[in-house]
Order: sequence, then structure tokens, then C-alpha cells
Amino acid sequence: MTADRPTAVVTGASSGIGAATARALSAAGFHVVLGARRTDRLAEVAAEIDGTAVRLDVTDAASVAAFAAAVPECRLLVNNAGGAKGMEPVAEADEDAWRWMFETNVIGTLRVTKALLPALIASGDGHIVTVTSIAALEPYDNGAGYTGAKHAQAMLHRTLRGELLGQPVRLTEILPGMVETEFSLVRFDGDAERADGVYRGLTPLTADDVADVIAFAATRPSHVNLDQIVMKPRAQALTRHVTAGPPHTVARIPQMVGLARKSAQNAAPRSSTASAGSTGATSATDRKPADRNASTIGPASQNVARNETGGSTWATTASARPPSKTPSVVWVRP
Ligand SMILES: NC(=O)c1ccc[n+]([C@@H]2O[C@H](COP(=O)([O-])OP(=O)(O)OC[C@H]3O[C@@H](n4cnc5c(N)ncnc54)[C@H](OP(=O)(O)O)[C@@H]3O)[C@@H](O)[C@H]2O)c1
Repeated sequence: MTADRPTAVVTGASSGIGAATARALSAAGFHVVLGARRTDRLAEVAAEIDGTAVRLDVTDAASVAAFAAAVPECRLLVNNAGGAKGMEPVAEADEDAWRWMFETNVIGTLRVTKALLPALIASGDGHIVTVTSIAALEPYDNGAGYTGAKHAQAMLHRTLRGELLGQPVRLTEILPGMVETEFSLVRFDGDAERADGVYRGLTPLTADDVADVIAFAATRPSHVNLDQIVMKPRAQALTRHVTAGPPHTVARIPQMVGLARKSAQNAAPRSSTASAGSTGATSATDRKPADRNASTIGPASQNVARNETGGSTWATTASARPPSKTPSVVWVRP
């Protein structure tokens, strides 16, 4: 869209990973076309990065066609629009929620990819990045609608890797674990307390963490194809295997300075809030992202048991020393 900057399209760019990716790609030298339904939020991000906001509903064929018509050339497509709705066992599955998840994550990705593929090939150096999830790797109880949709979205993406062999198009799948965005708010239908409970007491990835990795993949030399990148917070081993664990330090190298001071500020109130039956440590959403990038997180040593409503019960509060075996818990993660 501009003479000096290649065009990147990011779907679902009105919040979370998509908005952060739009910013990161702009910083990496792309002109970014941002698509989503909430045009006010899109316009804000676009104004910040000198990008272009275009309304997009990936579940609507006419909307996708109009969006594609507004994007005459495209070097990079980030298929990010998506999410989860609800969390019920298969026996109680809500068909509308399943339809939403498949329409948005699977058919939406298919539509946008089909619409922009000619421009990606014509660019002579195209790249399709699809944000699936670790839900595309494993099942978890009460998550079949989302894991099913993410598996299908992943298969669409991975199949293209072979079908486009010989064409000048790279394909990268990003598989994040727990990222603190509006994801859980959407999943739990606007229930902020339940959504906050998902991240409480541990350090999830941020949208910027994922955006960094997408920008890295997009800026490798043209012959380098990063096929799949799985990224999870240190506190997460599998979708349902997470821990508040012992205190752990999260710091980016340039932010190491001042770490000790922040640690001292952060440690006391958090360790004092942990008690059986309480909601435990300061909610992750109460902390600014910058704090999470350079701070000692979490109470001294805790087992946190998540329940199915996104709330939590602090099961143990042990000594300040890390336990010999890190306590782990079971809770559903995206
Ligand atoms: N957060 C996590 O833990 C996590 C982990 C693994 C994978 N993911 C995946 O990462 C992607 C981004 O999610 P997020 O965490 O950043 O959540 P988010 O903050 O809720 O962002 C979701 C984005 O998708 C857009 N979207 C939803 N339906 C759409 C539609 N019909 N048409 C166009 N855009 C639509 C939303 O915009 P509008 O509502 O304005 O349309 C929003 O910009 C999703 O595919 C999600 O499944 C998230």
C-alpha cells in the first residue's frame, strides 16, 4: 500500500495478540492493514502506527470480499481472528457456541486465506502466519469445541505448507499457551471475575510476547520457513498443567536493572494474601504488563487449584523456600 513498506494484513487486530502484532509489524517496517469488527478500536491502533483500518467480519463472506478488495497487495497475512466460547463437557455442548468457534477460527481463516492468496503469491515473497493454539496439539476436558476448531484450523494451515510448495509463500503456525488478553472475557461471555481467575496468581504470556515472535518469524530471510512455534509461560507445562509454584523472576535483559527494587515492592503484599479459601494473590490483570516483565511474581510457595468457573482456591501456603517438587494443578487453559 505504500511504495516503501510491504503490506501486512492482521485479522482480529482490535485487541490482544492482533493489536500487539499490528504494532510489532509496523515497527518492523510493514504497512499494516488491520481487520476486525470493532472499528473504533481498530482505528485507534491504526492511527498509532500509521496503518489502515478496514472493517472485517471473518464469518461473513461479503465482508471478507470487501476487505480483500481494499487490499490490492499483500506480503504477509496474519490469521489471528478467533477465540473460544464456553466450556462444557461434550454431553452438554452448546451447538451455537461450537458453530461460533468453527465459523470464526476455521471458516474465517479459510475465507481470508483464500481471498488473499493470489496477492500473497503475486508479491513474490508471501508469508501466512496463523495463530492456532496449544489447543491444536492436545485435547482437554470441557474444551472439545475449541480444541476441535483449533485442530481444524491447524490442519488447514499445515496442509497449505505442502500445497503451496514451489510457490513463493512461507507458512508459520504460532501455537501459544496461556496469554492474558480479552480471550477469557469472550469465552466466559463477559464475566470479568471468571476471566480474571484464569490468570490469577501466575504469570501468563502477554500479547506483546506473542507479537515479538510473530515479528521475528516475519523478518527472517525469505528462504527460512519457521513451520511451528509453540510458546507457553514458564508456569504452564500442558494446557491443564499449570502452577503458581515458587516465586519466579520474569525479566527481559534490558529490564534487569531495578529488578531487586520491584521484587521487594511486589513480594510482600502477594505473599500475605494467600490463605486457604481466599482468592489468593493479586490478579494478573491488576498488574501492569511492564510489571510482569520485570518483577518477582506470586506468593512464596503455593498450590493453586482452579475450579471450572475460573475461580481459585489456595490449597497450601508453604514456606518461603521452593518446595522440592513444584506443586502443580489442573485447570483448563486456552
Ligand atoms: N489468549 C490466549 O490464551 C490464546 C492462546 C492461544 C491462542 N489464542 C488465539 O489467539 C487469537 C487472538 O486471540 P486473543 O487472545 O488476542 O483474544 P482477543 O483479545 O479476544 O482477540 C480476538 C480478536 O479476534 C477478533 N474477532 C473475533 N471474531 C471476529 C470476527 N468474526 N471477524 C473478525 N475478527 C474477529 C476480535 O475483534 P472484534 O471482536 O473487534 O471483531 C479480536 O480482535 C485467537 O485466534 C485465539 O484463539 C489465544
